[in-house]
Amino acid sequence: MPNDSSAIETHGITRDFDSRKGFLFREVTHTEALKGIDLTVERGAIFGLLGPNGAGKTTLTKILSTLLLPTQGQAFVLGHDVVRDADWLRPRMGLVLGGERGLYTRISARENLRYFADLYGIPRTDRERRIDEVLARVDLEEAADRRVEEYSRGMKQKLHLARGILHRPQILFLDEPTIGLDPKSARETRKLVRSLVADGVTIFLTTHYMFEAEELCPKLAVLSKGRIVAQDTVANLRHLVGGDRTLDVEAYGFDDRELDSLRHLPGVSRFLTEEFGPVSRVTLRMRTDELRVDQVHAALPNHPELMVRERRTSMEDVYLDLVEEEAR
Ligand SMILES: Nc1ncnc2c1ncn2[C@@H]1O[C@H](COP(=O)(O)OP(=O)(O)OP(=O)(O)O)[C@@H](O)[C@H]1O
Ligand SMILES: [Mg+2]
Repeated sequence: MPNDSSAIETHGITRDFDSRKGFLFREVTHTEALKGIDLTVERGAIFGLLGPNGAGKTTLTKILSTLLLPTQGQAFVLGHDVVRDADWLRPRMGLVLGGERGLYTRISARENLRYFADLYGIPRTDRERRIDEVLARVDLEEAADRRVEEYSRGMKQKLHLARGILHRPQILFLDEPTIGLDPKSARETRKLVRSLVADGVTIFLTTHYMFEAEELCPKLAVLSKGRIVAQDTVANLRHLVGGDRTLDVEAYGFDDRELDSLRHLPGVSRFLTEEFGPVSRVTLRMRTDELRVDQVHAALPNHPELMVRERRTSMEDVYLDLVEEEAR
């Protein structure tokens, strides 16, 4: 049974696809898009789902929002089963998938929203006020009466968002909400997302923007090839990949003895090497602050060109480590 305080709880969700291609569509390819997902999302928070292309993010989002059936397993949203209680759930949740589908382009944004308001069963007496309210919230007031076919990609994305919140859902699923938006619009969208959370809405979002995930989401899950490889707070995920502090050490090549001495410097919990043309980079990750930049210089006396840079472990480091570890 689902825990009452969770907005989302899943147990062993899998989803397979069989797709046909080739001559007379005789060739069948079988994809296991999700391979047993166990996820818990608290109410009233923003939860972020990260993962490479094809990891299964959209598939999971669609299952949670009752658009797609799972092959196996169970998922509860707001304490209700997404398969059995789909009719109860639908009016209480919003879904915004990226792209252009799902909007009527020959009519205006306002007319689109009227149509969806009727579909959602919003009382006529409330309708115009609600529409004005969401148009203002996504900053589309001025363009509201223009035909959607004249809209830019970003404007369409905003209209998708307006549609997603029109019926005041308790939980909102956002699949890459800021994709294709210019920096200012993306920032406004993040602000909107935060204001929805302040109103008590639970948000489940997928993104490819690491800073966005870090900025918005107290908790994150990383999905890779249909499996959750980590699910925690950003701080704990940093710990998982070796700590808060990162030193980048760059020079024109290191020999084995030098690499070894870097690896064994005090406090190093993780050690990665990369090549950028003639430049070799060693990344050292640390949980403590015992190692100083000058100790790295002292360990590599034969490199006048040496560059050592200290920085905070970024969400991108965390993500790449987790996804690459899974691939190994
Ligand atoms: N309708 C479908 N028929 C066949 N295969 C599908 C279908 N939908 C998704 N898949 C496959 O399932 C896997 C996961 O796809 P999904 O769209 O969920 O990934 P994603 O994490 O959202 O990727 P992206 O970051 O590119 O949006 C992929 O291998 C994809 O090809
Ligand atoms: Mg996707």
